[in-house]
Amino acid sequence: MPNTSPIQIRDYFGVRTLLASHPDMRRLKRATHATQLHGNKLWGSAYLLIDYLQKNPLPAASKVLDLGCGWGLASIYCAKHLQATVTAVDADPAVFPYLSLLAQHNAVNINTQCARFEALDADTLAQYDVIIASDICFWDEMSEEVFDLIHRAVDAGVEKIIIADPHRPPFLAVAEACIDDFFAELIPSEVLTSRHHRGSILLIENA
Ligand SMILES: C[S@@+](CC[C@H](N)C(=O)[O-])C[C@H]1O[C@@H](n2cnc3c(N)ncnc32)[C@H](O)[C@@H]1O
Repeated sequence: MPNTSPIQIRDYFGVRTLLASHPDMRRLKRATHATQLHGNKLWGSAYLLIDYLQKNPLPAASKVLDLGCGWGLASIYCAKHLQATVTAVDADPAVFPYLSLLAQHNAVNINTQCARFEALDADTLAQYDVIIASDICFWDEMSEEVFDLIHRAVDAGVEKIIIADPHRPPFLAVAEACIDDFFAELIPSEVLTSRHHRGSILLIENA
């Protein structure tokens, strides 16, 4: 049973998160390895993605792949509020205990898979209707890997790709290439939680 002590719980967009001081979080931090590749907290761009999904809901029962899921906030939103079947993928196995804890506090099930983007081939990507991601392109050397992944997903027939980002330069380079090659849109976005989150949504509709 999750510990539901309310002082250390926050709820934005109907998704519960736990502060670092919450007993379940403290216990988990003591028991698990440190995350790598910046999977060490909830990142604000996840709220830009959730805000977009709230305003533009997916068809019910969509099959969703959350890439570079981290602690899986957007995955949880899709499972809890859009009745989606979600698979959350990350290269770093240390993020999954945090995702599981938050999923438990939100009473949802999320499938997880430990894999790098480059390991997701066209046959795997073709199993999903929608790909979502937030803040997954933060080092220059990631641009090529992320662009190639988007290219494989478009070729595999994934209907919609939605990536939120706080305007990191490697992401903007990918966005520009997607606008040229896949008629993508870059939609400015702002969300207020306890903080002010700013960035854009990269949207590719693969009709
Ligand atoms: C900045 S965090 C964002 C996490 C989450 N999407 C969010 O918005 O809170 C980036 C995540 O991408 C994952 N990641 C980075 N490079 C990756 C790769 N090549 N393949 C799969 N996951 C990767 C990291 O492990 C990390 O969890």
